[in-house]
Amino acid sequence: MSLTYIVTGASRGLGLEFVTQIAAKGHTVFALARNPSASEGLQKLVDNKKVFAVQLDTTDEKSIKNAVEEVSKNAPQGVDVLINNAGISGDRGGNIRKTDDEDYINVFTTNVVAVASVTNAFLPLLRQRGQDHTKKILNMSSILASISQINTINPTGKASAYSVSKAALNMLTKLTSNQLASENFIVYASHPGWVKTDMGGDDAPVEKKDSIAGMLKVIENLTPEQNGSFIDYQGNQLPW
Ligand SMILES: NC(=O)c1ccc[n+]([C@@H]2O[C@H](COP(=O)([O-])OP(=O)(O)OC[C@H]3O[C@@H](n4cnc5c(N)ncnc54)[C@H](OP(=O)(O)O)[C@@H]3O)[C@@H](O)[C@H]2O)c1
Repeated sequence: MSLTYIVTGASRGLGLEFVTQIAAKGHTVFALARNPSASEGLQKLVDNKKVFAVQLDTTDEKSIKNAVEEVSKNAPQGVDVLINNAGISGDRGGNIRKTDDEDYINVFTTNVVAVASVTNAFLPLLRQRGQDHTKKILNMSSILASISQINTINPTGKASAYSVSKAALNMLTKLTSNQLASENFIVYASHPGWVKTDMGGDDAPVEKKDSIAGMLKVIENLTPEQNGSFIDYQGNQLPW
């Protein structure tokens, strides 16, 4: 069955790989990016039949409104899956004692506030698929958001604004999942692994293609019991 996906932050990294693999499966995908024409990788995939590029800065209200209009025009039947992938790391050197206010605000704006705004704006298009159809929302989190695991993974709180923001995103995910459960939505937080991208760096052990193949398998096989949970790219349930 051919589905319709939306992916934010689709210019490079995990977002672009999502678009690549979703398109290869024959689904329709709206690739939302701050500057689509500047992404060569994305331009190669766009055919305006199954792969559409749409301008979206997730932190800009007007840009969100325009993107919703653009997607609505080309997906009058609605959308099945929203992947809130866009994110920033902020100051990686910053720890809990030396992260400045601006870093917290920037990271929180992109990783939390923008996800709430984008989700709210696209909800009508997801709802359009109807009560009988399962709609899915993936919020891209990180194991660095796990309060129960942080003492072993990152005890000194390096890049603390990032961890704090993704922990907040996890709560946003949980509350969204509670609110939408009765409307046949499955909303969850995903950890993609530590992946070789601009953000993950060259030392990361996981390749983009493996991370995305894993996350797409998870999305395809989600069950209602997994609404409001935290799942990694290999399908493992993670502790909050
Ligand atoms: N890589 C990892 O190991 C890893 C691990 C855990 C979680 N994650 C999460 O996975 C997601 C993708 O990460 P990545 O590794 O692919 O990072 P990346 O290579 O740095 O790519 C980030 C993407 O987000 C986009 N973006 C940032 N701010 C945006 C905004 N305001 N509006 C629209 N797009 C925006 C960027 O667009 P531009 O090209 O316009 O800058 C880019 O497409 C992030 O949420 C990240 O936190 C990654």
